[in-house]
Amino acid sequence: MCGIMGYVGKKQAGPVILDGLSRLEYRGYDSAGIAVRDDSGDVRIVKAAGKLKNLAEMTQNGSSLEGTCGLGHTRWATHGEPTQTNAHPHISLNEEEHSGAAVVPQVTGVHNGIIENYQELRIKLLRHGYRFYSDTDTEVLVKLVDYYYKKYKVGPIDALAKTMVRVQGSYALAVMFADYPGEIYTARKDSPMIIGVTEDETFVASDIPAILKYTQSIYYAENLEMARLIPGQAIFYDLNGDIVPKTPQIAEYSADSAEKGGYEFFMLKEIYEQPKAVRDTISAFTPDGEVDFSAEGLLPDDAKNVERLYIFACGSAYHAAVLSQYVFEELAGIPVRVEMASEFRYRAVPLEKNSLAIVISQSGETADSLAALRKAKEQVLKTLSIVNVSGSSIARESDYTLRTPAGPEIAVATTKAFSAQVIVLYLLALWIGSGKGRMDRERCREYLEEIRQIPEKIEEILSDKTKIQWLASKFSNAKEAFLIGRGIDYAVSMEGSLKVKEVSYIHSEAYAAGELKHGTISLLEKGTLVIGILTQKDLYEKTLSNLIECKARGAYIAALTGRGNSGIEETADFTMYVPETAQPFMGSLALIPLQLLGFYISIAKGLDPDKPRNLAKSVTVE
Ligand code: AGP
Repeated sequence: MCGIMGYVGKKQAGPVILDGLSRLEYRGYDSAGIAVRDDSGDVRIVKAAGKLKNLAEMTQNGSSLEGTCGLGHTRWATHGEPTQTNAHPHISLNEEEHSGAAVVPQVTGVHNGIIENYQELRIKLLRHGYRFYSDTDTEVLVKLVDYYYKKYKVGPIDALAKTMVRVQGSYALAVMFADYPGEIYTARKDSPMIIGVTEDETFVASDIPAILKYTQSIYYAENLEMARLIPGQAIFYDLNGDIVPKTPQIAEYSADSAEKGGYEFFMLKEIYEQPKAVRDTISAFTPDGEVDFSAEGLLPDDAKNVERLYIFACGSAYHAAVLSQYVFEELAGIPVRVEMASEFRYRAVPLEKNSLAIVISQSGETADSLAALRKAKEQVLKTLSIVNVSGSSIARESDYTLRTPAGPEIAVATTKAFSAQVIVLYLLALWIGSGKGRMDRERCREYLEEIRQIPEKIEEILSDKTKIQWLASKFSNAKEAFLIGRGIDYAVSMEGSLKVKEVSYIHSEAYAAGELKHGTISLLEKGTLVIGILTQKDLYEKTLSNLIECKARGAYIAALTGRGNSGIEETADFTMYVPETAQPFMGSLALIPLQLLGFYISIAKGLDPDKPRNLAKSVTVE
């Protein structure tokens, strides 16, 4: 997803903006640009297709642009090719200077989001004499601001308000006006935007890591809110142009937690942070030794009243939901319906009353998951979000929020946040199960003790990765792989498959082991990698027979199972063992070797696992 960054203060803006954009690279992009306004009022704009280093080289890391007020952007192409012309910032002039020469547009802007009615607005603006140099919706948006600013002559906030009323879609918009030197104006709807302040500087960005180095005092811009940013101050306005008093919050993590901490890649760092993330998550929701969500507003009686669960999510968060379905059924004894948010949001699904709708999202900004949340609220269901980012859109629009204390997750491929989500779901299952009398306190305590031991069991798995590294190098040139399992193991295969796919680009497919013989087994050839996940004792023999069927057709069998099932070695060509824990919780452990497998295949192929091609950390467009 695009990243926006703006700065106004005492420093030269260029280097601050480039630094901030570099901390947003994980969001995924294919071009970048910067605009800095110098003391004479001229705005110098430099843009480049490709990686941020191209822009850094063109601007000596931002230092060639003089001025203390500026905007920057990393663009993930939606409307228009990833070219220099389509890169942001965009301006209100009809022609655009690319040579880096100073131009003085009335309005210069950067935008993250999608303007859905940009075509009709483009036609309107053409009728009013505007011309367009790019294919982007953002250029239309910036020119529309300019149009209202010139037509009504009531200033930037009014021009932005009129623009917000007119456009449909999502935007985190930051603009500079030629008539207002040393100021930045913002408007937000549905796309993430945070604003940071120090004593004499103000920042705007798409996500906290961009500004953590400078300040932890941040504001979360609300939907349809505008702001005027001057050095050290942010003044917020509603759609009527009335001032909205806001108090800054302290960011929940420090700058170095968003750094690599000695690891070469964020993904490996975050894989190794999982024991801590799981430990912190357990203690966050067991304040007095028992599962307790009352600090989040969920009281024991609320558990008793939950008749059914709906869980909506995307990607890995969806896999966490699928994994938890088996655990809720086992421990809480209630029906659970899991839906991909991107599917659910367009379906006519009658939701049962007395149900709890759970939305899982690491970023808390995924557009489809936010839409699913809003759809559930329309049907008057109580909503609970599990997010890793406080203050995110999904958190703010839910009735209840359980925040995973996993810390900032920078790598596009989620690992520690996923594990923390799964732990929260385990605790929720215990909370509902005991609240509904399905298990007594002693049984609940026994399960909780098993969960408490998960972090050290993850540490044990992480302490010996040599076998995984060997398997990764053996199959780094594979064209395809299959991961199969039943029950919880099937959910594990889904997430394991995505980890392999998204960072190593091997076409990996997760399959319910019992389904293979209904067609897919025709794809197996000699040497095809089939990873069997067999942690569920009651399904072990079934999955083992499926692996034997695959082996009979020439597949290379890698088995992932609990320690003690050494009999698997008679069938498997390669075996990964994980420590045992209570059966419902084995998924937490089985995932770890598969995360490592994806990472090491990516490394073996010389890829960058932190920034996989075509992907974004948070998909804030549908
Ligand atoms: C997982 O590794 C991917 N990064 C992706 O599938 C991600 O889980 C999905 O986009 C959902 O993101 P969210 O958790 O921030 O909503």
